[in-house]
Amino acid sequence: MNECKGFGRGGGKIILLGEHSVVYGRPALAVGLPDGVTAKVAPSARKVGQIRCRDWRMEIPLNSGDRSAEAVRRILRRMGEAGLAWEVDLEVQIPHSAGLGSSAALCVAVARAFGELRGRRLTDGEAAEVAYEGERSFHGTPSGIDNTVAAYGGLVWFRKGEACRRLELPVALHLAVGVTGLGSDTSEQVGLVRRAWERDRARFEGLFDELGELVRLGRAALAAGDIEALGKLMDRGHELLGRLGVSGPALDEIVSAARASGALGAKLTGAGGGGCAVALCGSEEGARRVEEALKKAGFVAFRRRIRPGGADGEEGL
Ligand code: PMV
Repeated sequence: MNECKGFGRGGGKIILLGEHSVVYGRPALAVGLPDGVTAKVAPSARKVGQIRCRDWRMEIPLNSGDRSAEAVRRILRRMGEAGLAWEVDLEVQIPHSAGLGSSAALCVAVARAFGELRGRRLTDGEAAEVAYEGERSFHGTPSGIDNTVAAYGGLVWFRKGEACRRLELPVALHLAVGVTGLGSDTSEQVGLVRRAWERDRARFEGLFDELGELVRLGRAALAAGDIEALGKLMDRGHELLGRLGVSGPALDEIVSAARASGALGAKLTGAGGGGCAVALCGSEEGARRVEEALKKAGFVAFRRRIRPGGADGEEGL
């Protein structure tokens, strides 16, 4: 390790089931993406350093009012660092404001990089906790799912206030993702649901309960390797998210095109309003077909294979 530099990485994520209801104490299931954010932190010759990210065309001083700068300041403070004489360089493989957890990945990457610079390798739990501080500058009061998955990776069962559970993924997941190209502002979407919940608590609590139940059933389906059942639950999840008011024409179009081209199930993922929809497919070939169909329909699309794997790094069980 070079003592004057620290490197860290945080992963992107796909919420399979449970976004929004997770804010109201229901569980959620998510998988880490192989794509993410890498951060390099080094001491700056200037009093106030910069955050640079070529992929996002970002070059801002650390004392700027930008949310990323605020997030980095919060992380540094949380790690006992008051000064801003740091250069932060980011490499990013995921689009921002797309529901793929880029801001949480950024926060985890910076926390780990700064930890390494200080000669301290953060555990997944510590990285998630520090990153939560940074996430607050993007999302106000996030549930904590994004920073948790960004730190742990793998298949994660998350419930607010409980220890993170990494679950065994018995089979590979073949996912195709369609990008609407429309920004998904998490705090805006969470605020929209909150206002609707305040107007009709009984109805929304019922919807959250049903979403929570889908998550439980999804966990059982995954444990049994029953991908078809998981696909059906995702279809139902999309319908319920639509009733919460967070879908939209482009997301619905991606979901329909994915189903029509053979996906086992499809839903919006993340906060919605824009961002991405994810399709669960039966095979690599199936995911390729869905990806092609989404591109033909005019969307940016990509596919990812989520490796099967164990619950290594499990904490708090
Ligand atoms: O920031 P996104 O788009 O990945 O959404 C996060 C999931 C929400 O449930 C909508 C918000 C939260 O804090 O859990």
